[in-house]
Amino acid sequence: MRTQAATRVVELSAAPPIDPLRILASMSHDLQTPLTRMKLRAEAMADSIERNKLIADLEEMQHLVRQGIVYARSRHGADVTLRRIDLDACLQSLVSDYRDIGKAVTLFGRIGMPWVTCQHSLRRTLMNLIDNALKYAGAAELSVRRLPGNSISIAVADRGPGIPPEELAAVMQPFYRVSSCIAGISGAGLGLSIAQELTASLGGTLSLANREGGGLLAMLTLAACPASRATPARR
Ligand SMILES: Nc1ncnc2c1ncn2[C@@H]1O[C@H](COP(=O)(O)OP(=O)(O)OP(=O)(O)O)[C@@H](O)[C@H]1O
Ligand SMILES: [Mg+2]
Repeated sequence: MRTQAATRVVELSAAPPIDPLRILASMSHDLQTPLTRMKLRAEAMADSIERNKLIADLEEMQHLVRQGIVYARSRHGADVTLRRIDLDACLQSLVSDYRDIGKAVTLFGRIGMPWVTCQHSLRRTLMNLIDNALKYAGAAELSVRRLPGNSISIAVADRGPGIPPEELAAVMQPFYRVSSCIAGISGAGLGLSIAQELTASLGGTLSLANREGGGLLAMLTLAACPASRATPARR
């Protein structure tokens, strides 16, 4: 009898710990296919206000699911591939992608030299900051500059409501949203946490501050990586 109980204790304690990130990643992943199917079905319906509302809701759910996947990935160690890139051209192309779909995004400054970084992680980080500026303020101003000591800063600024000073640190936590400014604005509360994880994986820092005159300033600072750490470009 005692032996059986003892065996059960051993079995229970040997069970692998539940990893909440794994659950988030697999649920988000598995929801993608049915959501895509539902959206395709909704798009095939006759045009009506209800159909368009349904499509908008499904798109919102797709966004939340995507954020869940990106967040889980970024916490599990982002896949960082360092390459020497033309950062000015990358920023220009990012801004053009937004402008092409009618979004008010502007770019000031240039660094005028090649930069070693993971283009995918940097782009994802900047997109999360730009998406916030667009969502909460309607427009985003990017500015890039070289700093003394071989580093650079990329700032994303807006003229929206900003964030209450006592909540500036909390918004970096996953799923935290500022209740006073999100009425009617959807989001998973993951964009800034993802941006912070990815920035750390690039060896940089991300800070937030309210601007004089109103609005938020998200500041990314990146130190130069030695060119020897870059993966050679594919031929
Ligand atoms: N530019 C901004 N202006 C005002 N508030 C902001 C801004 N950026 C972020 N916030 C506040 O910080 C919160 C967290 O931002 P975060 O990007 O992590 O999540 P989200 O935008 O709510 O959702 P998502 O995961 O879709 O990005 C937001 O809910 C909002 O309250
Ligand atoms: Mg966001």
